[in-house]
Amino acid sequence: MPMTILVGAQWGDEGKGRVVDWLAASADIVARYAGGDNAGHTVALGEQVFKLHQIPSGILHRDVVSVMGNGMVVNPVNLVKEMEALRQLGIEVSPERLVISSRAHIITPAHIALDHAKEAALGAAKIGTTLRGIGPAYLDKTGRAGIRTGDMLLDVEEFAERLISAIETANSSFERQGAQSLDARAAAESYLQAADMLRPFIKDVSIYLYEALKAGKTIICEGAQGTLLDVDHGSYPFVTSSSPTAGGALTGLGVGPLFVERVLGVAKAFSTRVGGGPMPTELKGDVSLHLRGSGANFWDEFGTTTGRPRRCGWLDTVMLRYAVSVNGFSELMLTKLDILSGLPELKLAVAYEIDGALHRYPPDTNEQLARAQPKYETLPGWQEDISGCRRFEQLPPAARDYVARVAALCDVPINSVSVGPERQQLVQRL
Ligand code: IMP
Repeated sequence: MPMTILVGAQWGDEGKGRVVDWLAASADIVARYAGGDNAGHTVALGEQVFKLHQIPSGILHRDVVSVMGNGMVVNPVNLVKEMEALRQLGIEVSPERLVISSRAHIITPAHIALDHAKEAALGAAKIGTTLRGIGPAYLDKTGRAGIRTGDMLLDVEEFAERLISAIETANSSFERQGAQSLDARAAAESYLQAADMLRPFIKDVSIYLYEALKAGKTIICEGAQGTLLDVDHGSYPFVTSSSPTAGGALTGLGVGPLFVERVLGVAKAFSTRVGGGPMPTELKGDVSLHLRGSGANFWDEFGTTTGRPRRCGWLDTVMLRYAVSVNGFSELMLTKLDILSGLPELKLAVAYEIDGALHRYPPDTNEQLARAQPKYETLPGWQEDISGCRRFEQLPPAARDYVARVAALCDVPINSVSVGPERQQLVQRL
């Protein structure tokens, strides 16, 4: 049963792209199952840094087929630009190497305008979205009013009509609110050009993957965002509108659970979050600056898609324990352990105190979560540069103890950690 589901265990930005890149070396297919170009998966290969937004990270491996699942929302114009950017870097992007589900939904310019308008209307209570039109696109999907990637296979006039009508419907509500309306025909024009380029890549992904699995192929299901941003299981309403958790891989690709062999969680060795919503272990001051970095390096904690500085804090094992339970991780991988080097001591949130009661799991409401006081355990830090370590025994004892304590607190094995952005900067238990 050759399917691995890879899931972000926190609020996204866990470094999933580089983990997929690592796993893809021994896979046949990498299939992304949720989200759209709100994601930013970064992979460093020597001097080159690839920032992928919609195309799965498997595209960087010559023998891997990348698949975009029905659970995604696709911006066709930006997708064509991403394909072009990869080609410029010498990566082959052809229908033999990239398959796009006919059942994914299309992000229209109206969705993007609506995302902006909704966020502006919320003022200080805004979600802090990436403004890529993600929420409005999923809203149209579940409201049964969306346009699907498969509609690009229709007669050109028919596809254009659907787009223009969707944009004009949104325009009438923009006009009622006194907002600027969109030029539906100009927007349709750019989408038609993109559709021309994308048509050969569109297929029924569910059948494609079923036949691949039956033929014994190995599949990595690439999650985007993270468990705590899941529309059902995250800190609603400060979430994205898709299902980044393990269950989302099955619905977002149309595959059955019996094919799943492994559910790999990816967590950063500390916590980060972009956008609004509670974050109990958030820090201000020197430790936060140490964790975030200055922004001079691509791995510093600034959004890949939006450039926003990320909120940083100690690792929250209450949230991680929850992610283990929601996803049923068979193992967890910790990324960016090297960033903790140089801190005199490290803290792990092991429980929350809310209104005098101790909680081992997050509470039911965001209001309670906003009142949560983390209970910390303090561990010694290490001063050594660990970026050259490749085996667990090479890590300083304090780093090994930190990893072991996280594994014990979350009751999940941790067999690998990353100690730098490069492909080979991984430490594995042999
Ligand atoms: P949306 O997905 O653009 O609607 O944004 C909803 C929330 O999810 C916001 O808090 C975003 O900052 C967050 N978000 C969306 N995509 C990512 C991601 O790839 N990494 C981290 N946060 C994300």
